[in-house]
Amino acid sequence: MLQSSPLKVFVTGGAGYIGSHVVLALGEAGHEVLVYDNLSTGSRAAVLHGELVVGDLADNILLRETLERFRPDAVMHFAASIEVGESVRAPLKYYRNNSANALNLLEAVRAAGIDRFIFSSTAAVYGNPPVVPVTEEAPLNPINPYGASKLVTETMLRDLAAADPAFSYVSLRYFNVAGADPFTRLGQDYANPTHLITRALKTALGIFPKLQLFGTDYPTPDGTCIRDYIHVADLAQAHLDALAYLCSDMGTCTGTGSAGACPPSLICNCGYGRGFSVNEVVAMAREVTGIDFPIETAGRREGDPAELVAASDRIRRTLGWQPRHDDLEFILKTAWAWEKKLADKQSGR
Ligand code: UFG
Repeated sequence: MLQSSPLKVFVTGGAGYIGSHVVLALGEAGHEVLVYDNLSTGSRAAVLHGELVVGDLADNILLRETLERFRPDAVMHFAASIEVGESVRAPLKYYRNNSANALNLLEAVRAAGIDRFIFSSTAAVYGNPPVVPVTEEAPLNPINPYGASKLVTETMLRDLAAADPAFSYVSLRYFNVAGADPFTRLGQDYANPTHLITRALKTALGIFPKLQLFGTDYPTPDGTCIRDYIHVADLAQAHLDALAYLCSDMGTCTGTGSAGACPPSLICNCGYGRGFSVNEVVAMAREVTGIDFPIETAGRREGDPAELVAASDRIRRTLGWQPRHDDLEFILKTAWAWEKKLADKQSGR
């Protein structure tokens, strides 16, 4: 990508798990960052670079004032509710946080004249894809409100970009993000984590009594669900690549479709293209921790597709993304180092 000069980036949800890793990477690349986060699940301590404004996306006045003051070159939108199971039980929370708040943000972004936007989308927009690895052209049939609420925002972005040629976006459809900063500066830190790798490692530490396996009768080789686990630092790099792509024309963007126009909007899967079953992840977690933690077979969790693996050619080709940590063992090792650090902190060691 051409762009290399420092940019100003407004990051919603920058105090959360993925957002905080991206903020750190933006800082290391020399960019100026303002994090806008209501700290509902994120923490102040996770913002290792830039300014933090504690605010809600529903607070239109603060949101607009902050955008006007900071005048970013681009916006990255991470703030969202992210649990598939919870979304089935509390769908309106998901439409509120993930769809309605995104609408507020987009209106504020356009009112402030910002025309570059990077969106945290999800593989959950595909539902149960008919063909795996799933390409970006696959039908969009989410099977849970989480995926549906994110698809609403993708649809708004598509329609906005069509109506407004000055506006360009990159939508990154995350597969299963896991692991922690390789230097253990950051990691996942939720009060009640639900993701497989975090649950498994906390079970190894004795924080949870056992790990439940949600469904062993799926149409997969070992009966458990298959996912494409991507290291959070590689995902952070994908955001820097998307930013460089969107800003490669800085200063020349005319929005006219002629030479010098904004780069075309893009939708890219973010995964490695390789799947691991729940059983395989558990086996690797036991190996990395050296602890034979207890597991228990449980029923299927509502809203879970059987197999989600990314076709990742597009992001490699269009954004030049080159992942460095395509290795389940490394993902687990970095997450384990982080979990041990958290446990030490909590026990005052
Ligand atoms: N699982 C268990 N036991 C647990 C937790 C999870 O068996 O205690 C299973 C789940 O049923 C699923 C797999 O492990 O089969 C992965 O579940 P996660 O909760 O770790 O992740 P999800 O696949 O539900 O969701 C994640 C992200 C979404 C993203 C999705 C895409 O949270 O944002 O991956 O695959 F859309």
